Amino acid sequence: MKGLILSGGKGTRLRPITHTRAKQLVPVANKPVLFYGIEAIRDSGITDIGIVVGDTKDEIIDAVGDGSYFGVKVTYIEQEAPLGLAHAVLVAEDFLAGNPFVMYLGDNLIINGISPLVEEFRRNQYNAQILLAHVPNPSQFGVAELVEGKVVRLEEKPAEPKSDLALVGVYMFDSNVFKAAKSIKPSDRNELEITDSIQWLVDQDFNVQSFVVEGWWKDTGKLEDMLEANRMILDTFETRIEGKICPRSLLEFKVVIQEGAEVENSTIRGPAVIGKYSKVIDSYVGPFTSIYHNTVLENCEIQHSIVLERSRIANIETPIVDSLIGRNVEVTKSRLKPKAYRFMMGDSSKAGIF
Ligand code: DAU
Repeated sequence: MKGLILSGGKGTRLRPITHTRAKQLVPVANKPVLFYGIEAIRDSGITDIGIVVGDTKDEIIDAVGDGSYFGVKVTYIEQEAPLGLAHAVLVAEDFLAGNPFVMYLGDNLIINGISPLVEEFRRNQYNAQILLAHVPNPSQFGVAELVEGKVVRLEEKPAEPKSDLALVGVYMFDSNVFKAAKSIKPSDRNELEITDSIQWLVDQDFNVQSFVVEGWWKDTGKLEDMLEANRMILDTFETRIEGKICPRSLLEFKVVIQEGAEVENSTIRGPAVIGKYSKVIDSYVGPFTSIYHNTVLENCEIQHSIVLERSRIANIETPIVDSLIGRNVEVTKSRLKPKAYRFMMGDSSKAGIF
């Protein structure tokens, strides 16, 4: 089998992180989302992976390289425009060369991996296998309708969903999917939908199986979703210290201190991760917090939060909680008069002031 990861798309802004960046590279528990997909495919025994890229091609190639870091071989496949998930499959037809494959959307994250599901697909030689998850907001996804456990209807982002079962962004196909993708028409949003291709397979009586999974995350651009994914992943961590801890510091529960990080006169209560070359000085980092690389925390308290790279938080008296702080951000106490809040906040930012 081969793997196909879809990392094309429009180079959208992921709110509330204001910098434009490949959404597949947003870190969850200090690891880009895309890396979880590569590892999940590798762990299921597949090492030949194609990655579909678009506008943000350079960033993706920069981060993933030839795949050897992950123990896989990566081939990049360019899609000239984001014309739909089924279009991406057609663009990858030569690479897939008739092999059955796992297709993994690069902005999705399945907490417990996909190995048993790939095994199931291999063993039974289904024509297609889809994963589903119960969600509170089905109209934002492809939605499946099952009758006695069998997939009968799939609809892309329906205004009136027939169930709460969303299509998760991991699919397994044999080569019949190419016929399907070539037989459908673009949708109202002018994309060749994989959802319609699977419906075509169902209508032609191909064997399409479904499984309901738990522990799925998909970027919806919402702070709560990112914090939830961060919490779920941190919870699976074991303690690992690769950086420097000064004797006056205290590490409790599951804490990962990455290479080059320094913790001085501080308490870190896990699950938490401190990224490469970050510094935590005279501070408290509480549970479910990810501090990404090259960031400085000084004389502050933070918990249940994510801080991205090259940011600096210093001399803040009130604890910071439930927060997502972007790249190159500074949050510091000012000595300037008048005593006031001074902000320079990007698009879609939110601040909660006590
Ligand atoms: O995440 C699950 C959902 O993914 C499913 O429930 C939907 O049925 C499915 O259509 C898809 O919905 P989205 O509209 O959220 O997909 P999005 O445009 O976010 O693209 C998903 C990934 O695929 C993302 O990493 C970008 C990449 N992509 C997308 C398009 C449209 C491509 O590589 N090429 C494309 O043409």
